[in-house]
This record gives sequence, structure tokens and C-alpha cells, in this order.
Amino acid sequence: MLRIAVIGATGAVGRECLTLLDGGIVPAARVAPAASARSAGRDLASEWGLSLPLAPLTAVEDVDPDAVDVAVLCAGAEVSRREAERLAAAGVLVVDNSSAFRMRPDVPLVVPQVNPGALADRPACNLVSNPNCSTIQLVRALHPLHELAGLESVVVATYQAASGGGLRGLEELAQGSSRLLSAPGAPPEEAGGRFGQPLPFNLVPEIGLQDETGLSHEERKLVREPRKILGLPGLRVAATAVRVPVFHCHSEAVHVRLRRPVTAEAVEDALAATPGLRAYRRSHSPSYPMPRSVFARSEDRALVHVGRIRVEPEDPTAVALWVVADNLRVGAALNALQIVELAAKQGWLS
Ligand SMILES: NC(=O)c1ccc[n+]([C@@H]2O[C@H](COP(=O)([O-])OP(=O)(O)OC[C@H]3O[C@@H](n4cnc5c(N)ncnc54)[C@H](OP(=O)(O)O)[C@@H]3O)[C@@H](O)[C@H]2O)c1
Repeated sequence: MLRIAVIGATGAVGRECLTLLDGGIVPAARVAPAASARSAGRDLASEWGLSLPLAPLTAVEDVDPDAVDVAVLCAGAEVSRREAERLAAAGVLVVDNSSAFRMRPDVPLVVPQVNPGALADRPACNLVSNPNCSTIQLVRALHPLHELAGLESVVVATYQAASGGGLRGLEELAQGSSRLLSAPGAPPEEAGGRFGQPLPFNLVPEIGLQDETGLSHEERKLVREPRKILGLPGLRVAATAVRVPVFHCHSEAVHVRLRRPVTAEAVEDALAATPGLRAYRRSHSPSYPMPRSVFARSEDRALVHVGRIRVEPEDPTAVALWVVADNLRVGAALNALQIVELAAKQGWLS
């Protein structure tokens, strides 16, 4: 039985972690929640109706590494940079949800369904990174295609939900939408807030700051992280990341060029045979997943959903997909806890 710290427990991803632990995803002897000092003392078990063995909530600085086997960090890159190495240096295995360490060569970047081999040995630095939420659902859809016919290049456009901006993002979309509905003629809101621009009834084609080439921070992650996870350093990836006024679940339009020609049936069969993934065949009605229907059922929130499966008649190496998954669960908490599960199976945490 593990002693697990969830750091950032009061946030959107942290709450998902606690919910999954409450459901018994990994056997926990004790779960120590932590957040900022302003949340210390909150009783999350009563607030959220959890029955797991939850310790009192502390400030992250007060997490005692001697009382913890594994820590899941979901409090942002700044907290990770400050706290992850303190815990890791004291022997705690740290699974980090932020972007702080993802591209460090000595830190495995892991999606258990795709590159479990990256955890063949316990990393000497005691750090494992969880990829970006959009990356996780992308590579889980790409991996069976790569095994089928080899990936040549990928073009992806994301439609990312407000929950990707955490609790504040969800609140801004809810409040801004109801404000606009009650006063449709009101002047547009000022730029700013969690998404840089007003999100209600809008589309924001910039997630994170742009670099000198014009690529946004989120797009840079979508280009670089799949290469590391899939072990394809030369993979060409072009990405456009867009924030959309949807509360939950990220969607992606993905266009893939393969090394060998395929048929749509072969692609459907490969996707349908992949554990944790639901393929919507062209004969299925509807032949595509949607964010609201995916979010509506707990079991669907744990899957990657792939529909609109097409192969170009003029070029049977060109495949198109529509991929939807819950960014908080598949794209963050579930992936992190599956890493913990894998580490426990390796005997690292006993
Ligand atoms: N949202 C997603 O879809 C998603 C997906 C993948 C990865 N991630 C990553 O997961 C992390 C958390 O995201 P989120 O969406 O859950 O954010 P969130 O809802 O804003 O929650 C942030 C959490 O961090 C804590 N925190 C903030 N500042 C802190 C500080 N100075 N010291 C200690 N704790 C602090 C907050 O505690 P208080 O309540 O005490 O302020 C809260 O528990 C981020 O690194 C994010 O990039 C998010």
C-alpha cells in the first residue's frame, strides 16, 4: 500500500487525482493532499464526499518526504520547479504534470499505453513527466497508426476546452457566458484573464505565448513531446492550438501521412483493437465523438475517442482522424496515476 502525496489537490487536475484514488485506481495506505498555504486545513474528504484515507491538507512546503513514497504534482510549473527536486532528492518518486521537466533528457516522458519501456528502470533523478494533455490523446491515437504503417508526418489542429485553464478557466467561461447571455448588446470584454482573450462565444487561436517563429507555447509542446514519446526525433509535426468555449474535453483534427498505404478498414481495425481507445467506425452513427457526450459518462472520460476516420482516395498514405478525450482525466490525472501503477508494478515503491 502506497503513501501518495497529491500536490495541487484543490485544483482541477488534483481533484481528478483524488477522485481516481477514491475509486481505488492504485491501493493507497495514505493520501496526503497539499496546495498553497491559503488552502491549508481544508477538509476535501467532506467537501467532495471522498472516503479514501486522506491526511489533513497542508501547504506544499510542509510535505514531509519521509512520509511519502510517490508524489503527483499538479500545481503548475513554478511550484514543480521549486518543490519537485526537493522531494525527488529525498527519495520520493515524483510524477509531474507540468511542463517543467518534460524535455530534460534524463526525465522519462511517459504515456503508459505508448512507451511503458521508458520506465524499464527507475530514473536516477526520481522524476517522471506527464505529457501535455493535448499530446497524450494525440500520441494514443497516433501510436496504432505508427505500428500499422509507420508515421511520416502529422498536422494537428486542437479545439481545447476551458478546463485546460484549470478551475479559474472554467469559472471565467461560465460567468462570462451568462453575462453575455443576459446582456447580448454589451460591449466586448477587455483582453486578459485566464485565456488572454475573452473566451465565451469566441475562439482564441493562441494558447500560451508565441516564440520568435510565431509558434505558441502549446503548439511547441505538441510538436516536441510526441517525438520524445514515440521515439521519432525526426517526426514532422505541424500544430495549431485553439481554445474553444467548451467546458470539458479537448478535440483534435489530425491529418497523418504514413510511410505505407492503408485502407480505412485497416485503420479502423487497428484503432478498435487498441486498449483504452474507442474507434467510431464509418458505419457507426454518429461516426464521431463530441466533447459533451464523452464528458457525460464516467467510463467514457477514461477513454480516447477517435472518429471521422478517413483515408484519402487519391493518396492511401493520407489518413484523417477526429480525436476527443477528457483533458483532466485522460490528459492528466489518469495518465499520472497509470505511471504510478506502472512504477508500483516495477517494485520501485514497495
Ligand atoms: N487542466 C488541465 O487540463 C491540465 C492537463 C494536463 C496538465 N495540467 C497541468 O496540471 C497542473 C495543474 O493544473 P490545473 O488545471 O489543475 O490548475 P488549477 O485548477 O488552477 O489548480 C492549481 C493548483 O495548484 C495549487 N497552487 C497554485 N499556486 C500554488 C503555490 N504557489 N503553492 C502551492 N500550490 C499552488 C492550487 O492550490 P490553491 O487552491 O491553494 O491555490 C491548486 O491546487 C498545471 O501544471 C497544468 O499545466 C493541467
